Amino acid sequence: MRKCKVVFYPDNKQIEVDKGENLLRAAMLAEVHVNASCGGDGTCGKCRVVIDEGRVSRQPSPKLSSEDIEKGYYLACRTHVESDLIVRIPPESRLGEKRVLDRRRTVSACGLLLSPEDALGLVKGWKLDPKVRKLSIQLSPPTLEDNLGDLERLKRELDRKYGIRDFQVSFAALRNLAATLRERNWQATITFLSHGGRERLVQVEAGDRQKYNCGLAVDLGTTTVYAQLLDLNTGKTLVSASDYNAQVSCGEDVITRIIYSQKGENLARLQQLVVSTVNGLIDVLLQKSKRSISDITFMAVAGNTTMTHLFLGLNPKYIREEPYIPTIAFCSLVRARELGLEVGDGVYVYVLPGRASYVGGDITAGILGSGMYQADELTLYIDIGTNGEIVLGNRDWLLSCSCSAGPAFEGGTIKHGMRAMTGAIESVRISRDTYEPMILTIGQTKPKGICGSGMIDAVAELFLSRIIDQKGKFNLDLDTPRVRKNEGGAEYVLTWANETAIGKDIVLTEADIDNLIKTKGAIYAGISILLDSAQIPISDVKQVLIAGGFGHYLELDKAIVLGLVPEIPCERVKFIGNGSLLGARLVLLSKEMESVAEEIARKMTYLELSVNPAFMENFISALFLPHTNIEKFPSVMAALKSRG
Ligand code: FES
Repeated sequence: MRKCKVVFYPDNKQIEVDKGENLLRAAMLAEVHVNASCGGDGTCGKCRVVIDEGRVSRQPSPKLSSEDIEKGYYLACRTHVESDLIVRIPPESRLGEKRVLDRRRTVSACGLLLSPEDALGLVKGWKLDPKVRKLSIQLSPPTLEDNLGDLERLKRELDRKYGIRDFQVSFAALRNLAATLRERNWQATITFLSHGGRERLVQVEAGDRQKYNCGLAVDLGTTTVYAQLLDLNTGKTLVSASDYNAQVSCGEDVITRIIYSQKGENLARLQQLVVSTVNGLIDVLLQKSKRSISDITFMAVAGNTTMTHLFLGLNPKYIREEPYIPTIAFCSLVRARELGLEVGDGVYVYVLPGRASYVGGDITAGILGSGMYQADELTLYIDIGTNGEIVLGNRDWLLSCSCSAGPAFEGGTIKHGMRAMTGAIESVRISRDTYEPMILTIGQTKPKGICGSGMIDAVAELFLSRIIDQKGKFNLDLDTPRVRKNEGGAEYVLTWANETAIGKDIVLTEADIDNLIKTKGAIYAGISILLDSAQIPISDVKQVLIAGGFGHYLELDKAIVLGLVPEIPCERVKFIGNGSLLGARLVLLSKEMESVAEEIARKMTYLELSVNPAFMENFISALFLPHTNIEKFPSVMAALKSRG
């Protein structure tokens, strides 16, 4: 991607961004304040700028008159960088800004979510060779002389045309065989599933349907379920979708769901709820991609151990009781219909294997899909979801642990929290002088709520602006209507009601901040324990991979201000997005990846934190911004000093 230099005046600050970058985001990254309150929807009209030099492209907005355009005004949020630029921020777009922001970016990593195709490049040496293939065939119709049975006729032709002899036949594929072969004048498409070194005929369709071969990758999260539809012939990701796991109504975390599952028919209910979420996502994906249900030939599912058990309808009871034993860690193929999934008869599901009760198939998938299992250098993998799972190691060894983080970064337990989807505030800056925010939403539409990356930004900015203290408590003496106290406690108004899509103020409350601090404290404590157990200082870690369902951007310096991750050079960090989905996708695309996943699960050593007394100690020390011992975070110390 071509880089462009953007210089902002009168701040005289510059930043390098990818060609095509949104100009308001470029200003945010350069720490230049531009008023922006509608999230980039183009409706508040406050983010006016003038382009003094260079090329841009812009989307129209009724907020700019023809006279404005003639005068050279642009709305930063509707403008994209096409070349090196010189941009002037006029006084009206800085209203209320008394002085130029002087904070230096001490760490400047901005993790841009990898595109699905780029993410596949994280793993080296794999080739497109899916577990499922479709073969088109034309049979000769039977006659009195050539009176072989339908299946034998099919086998004869498969041998003749493709040299395929040795395969099993799924009984379900035989049910409509006679009618299917005759439907299109003996032209048919055969689906083969390869498993354990053998092939199995799983489906026969009428006509030539070779090119309709889609796989479904699913990340079964405790809070959110993500799914992607892939074209298995080309390896391309067609569409993605996500939804809250319908089980959330029965408990927010895995422990409450295990307890719930132990009464009456609740286990079956939980199984049906998660399957209904996946079925809903299948509908959405098929509609979006204009594909049909019969195009789906295979599914790969990755989830934590409890979610996997609940998806399969297995009793998770002993996952919760010492010594924390799951019913299964490795699962063979399951027929999708048996689980209640509304797909074809011949579709099978592969569930990625886990290591332990609290390090499941989602982590195996992440280690696979991020390429960590191939890494020569020492790598730290951090998956931030409802549980925080951490893995340290490289191609030779893997040490893992899990800490109960809670669903805060996925929007759970946060008043206006939401998943990373259109309308979610994903970037926030707050003026150190006026305490006014500048926000950008996913899809640049009116804000509906705030997602994980927006929360990280917002809490870090509130802290750096002295609006909250190290314990996350509000300073109520500030001269701004943005900070207020009501019956629910103190809060900060990110967007006023008239500029939101929900018709009410979007706020971050003291209780929200408290939840976020607990979540980050648990993750930081987990990282510390793993490093201490391996007797490795953080400086020896050469690569950090951060996985999680954040927005499109995750800024490392903000995550460090929060104390979510230790302070490390930004060039060592990669933000990989949903690691679980990366691995599930790879298993769909390459059959050899199934045995690689199983090898990873066997190789991982698991450290149980619930019996580790040092965990609580580390957790309590991490319940501050960024940490009780701020010397562990020199860049934050420097930023605090520079703010005066
Ligand atoms: Fe650009 Fe509102 S018009 S942020």
